Amino acid sequence: VKRLRAAILGATGIVGQHFVRILHDHPSFQIAALAASERSEGYRYYEAADWVVTGEMPLNVQEMVICGAAPEDLLPRGVDVVFSALPSKEAGHIEQALAGEGVPVFSNAGAHRMDPHVPILIPEINPDHLGLVHSQDRGSGYIVTNSNCSTSGLVFGLKPLVPFGLRDVTVTTYQAVSGAGRRGVASLDILGNVVPYISGEEGKLETEPKKILGHFNGDTIEDAGFEVYASCARVPVLDGHLESVVVTLGQEVDAVSVREAFSSFTGEPQALGLPTAPNPPIVVESQVDRPQPLRGLSLSTGDFGMAVRIGRIRVKGNRVSFFLLVHNTIRGAAGASVLNAEFARVKGYLRAGKGVIP
Ligand SMILES: NC(=O)c1ccc[n+]([C@@H]2O[C@H](COP(=O)([O-])OP(=O)(O)OC[C@H]3O[C@@H](n4cnc5c(N)ncnc54)[C@H](OP(=O)(O)O)[C@@H]3O)[C@@H](O)[C@H]2O)c1
Repeated sequence: VKRLRAAILGATGIVGQHFVRILHDHPSFQIAALAASERSEGYRYYEAADWVVTGEMPLNVQEMVICGAAPEDLLPRGVDVVFSALPSKEAGHIEQALAGEGVPVFSNAGAHRMDPHVPILIPEINPDHLGLVHSQDRGSGYIVTNSNCSTSGLVFGLKPLVPFGLRDVTVTTYQAVSGAGRRGVASLDILGNVVPYISGEEGKLETEPKKILGHFNGDTIEDAGFEVYASCARVPVLDGHLESVVVTLGQEVDAVSVREAFSSFTGEPQALGLPTAPNPPIVVESQVDRPQPLRGLSLSTGDFGMAVRIGRIRVKGNRVSFFLLVHNTIRGAAGASVLNAEFARVKGYLRAGKGVIP
């Protein structure tokens, strides 16, 4: 099968580097363009990117010359699909312009997530939401987003509990510094410290899960009816957002049923055997002091950072408490986007030449 020509926007940043790592030898996509800001344009990738991701910079991208992210830079390169790791401010207009030119865009940025015509797709959880792109009315181009990094973990802790009735969710996060990007948090602010504020983060955690777990009626998405109360902190950890979650359910449950709901959870990406799909998508940790960012989240695990890890499950009546851990730059960012594109491809939404909405 012909591999689709992919452009990575924000290719020099942390999420962009994970895109490069995942896509440089991908069975369905090949890297056709690497784009970044004017600071990097014209430089070779090995000169412009300060590689911080585990493993070596792939050989086949080192000599590629960085280009701009606008349609006039990318369209002449015959791009079939775009993966965006742009800062939200830039992503808004650039992604819209590319989609307007008929290009399918898979974005990590927050700019379009709450647009009523744009899905926040997590194919294990809301595969049908991909159909929302029909309402974008952009010809063959469209925008599909993945969620904020903390949300991408949280919804895996919520979806398996839906059959018990979700009433409200209280979540407290311990978020890694890589979540703030390459130049994100000054070392003086975070070494030996915890910062109980991340700009805009609590709002995203309180709104995105309701859209993701909402009902797609074929036209629009009706938000799910539970409330989320979020508190977010930055901690001196490199990778991996840990989250303490307390869920109030509509009925009493026991810990065995909850554990079973998490460990048996699976979805369409697993059934389809998509290359980036972790199997299982949720790993239930049995050790009493897990999950931990430093243990079991490395790229050397079988799921390559795509599984969400849940542990410390406790139940009192209709209240379930647990900790979950998500790799913020992989399941929370680049890996999630690649999985979305793999899913869109098997569903007939991507093809060589230009996008297609079946
Ligand atoms: N880090 C995470 O855990 C995470 C998780 C989920 C979502 N996200 C989202 O993903 C996006 C990227 O995050 P990141 O952590 O990878 O950030 P980052 O490390 O700061 O990288 C930003 C990238 O965007 C490029 N860029 C900046 N301004 C640009 C412009 N005007 N035109 C074109 N390119 C421009 C930068 O290029 P230069 O090198 O040339 O400056 C760099 O490649 C953000 O929207 C972020 O919110 C991040």
